[in-house]
Amino acid sequence: MKEKLDQILDRALSEINSSEQLDKLNDIKTAFLGKKGELTAVLKGMKDVAPEDRPKVGQMVNETREKIESVLEKKKTEFERKILEEKMKNEVIDVTLPGKKMGRGHRHPNTIALEEVEKIFIGMGYEVVDGPEIEYDYYNFEALNIPEGHPAKDEQDTFYINDKILLRTQTSSVQVHVMEEGKLPIRMISPGRVFRSDDVDATHSPSFHQIEGMVIDKGITFADLKGTLDLFAKKLFGEDTKTKFRPHHFPFTEPSAEMDVSCFKCGGKGCRFCKGEGWIEILGCGMVHPHVLEMSGLNPDEYTGFAFGVGLERIALLKYEIDDMRLLYENDMRFLEQF
Ligand code: DAH
Repeated sequence: MKEKLDQILDRALSEINSSEQLDKLNDIKTAFLGKKGELTAVLKGMKDVAPEDRPKVGQMVNETREKIESVLEKKKTEFERKILEEKMKNEVIDVTLPGKKMGRGHRHPNTIALEEVEKIFIGMGYEVVDGPEIEYDYYNFEALNIPEGHPAKDEQDTFYINDKILLRTQTSSVQVHVMEEGKLPIRMISPGRVFRSDDVDATHSPSFHQIEGMVIDKGITFADLKGTLDLFAKKLFGEDTKTKFRPHHFPFTEPSAEMDVSCFKCGGKGCRFCKGEGWIEILGCGMVHPHVLEMSGLNPDEYTGFAFGVGLERIALLKYEIDDMRLLYENDMRFLEQF
């Protein structure tokens, strides 16, 4: 019996030592120590062994098993170490190699300018409101005091869809929607796309963006308008910016004005940027016309307010000193990557 066990042990050890793969060790383990393995077969044959010899034989079988197991385990550890070494060798990282440059997206100058304007007004407690781009003539013109036949209607070359429906020419249309909702006081800005049938050139595009603003409450005066828009200009163009209000005319405001800011390039002395003026025109504004309040269901004896409209592209062009609006729409990566 001892011979038989020694023979099994020898065979097992030589198979283990000559094996070259980790998988092979499992096969060897099954072949010798498994349920149907050779050593198990020996145990099963114990019934043929004389009872007094059984403990001894049992002990020999156990010793053989332990030897095989220990050698298997050693070999296994050896293999695992080799595999790990191999892996480490292949996965060498040269930390001195230059990294791969990741393409990084850029926000469009219009977006940056818009976010800046929104931040300023949100900081003053304004709400940002959205409005429809396809609009009724009523909201774009009539309710803003621009009736049929009014010259202002012809000034803005409108894309009509039919008699009553058009692509809005100004975000002022949102004023009417907000007033009709009737939630007072109103303190809102409404940025969005507007459309005019203009030919493309350095300062025109058939589609551009405006930001409308409106405040309505009891006791709002022109001083509120001036204070608000002066603060806006200072936050947008710098603390030293001065503002100037020139009388103007808009059908939906009375009185109306245009606001200029002191040239942030020359500080007002006059330069190429401001065409020697020292001032740059920035927005239209005024006190909401009583008739406009009335048409949208507000009582002008109780409520007053101011409104303003500013071109988003104009702000982006000024802020980044871009001299051609077409650059904003051409999607040239060399241009866009600069922001
Ligand atoms: N809607 C005007 C335009 O497109 C801009 C404007 C001027 C808006 C005065 C206003 C305002 O709200 O009070 O030219």
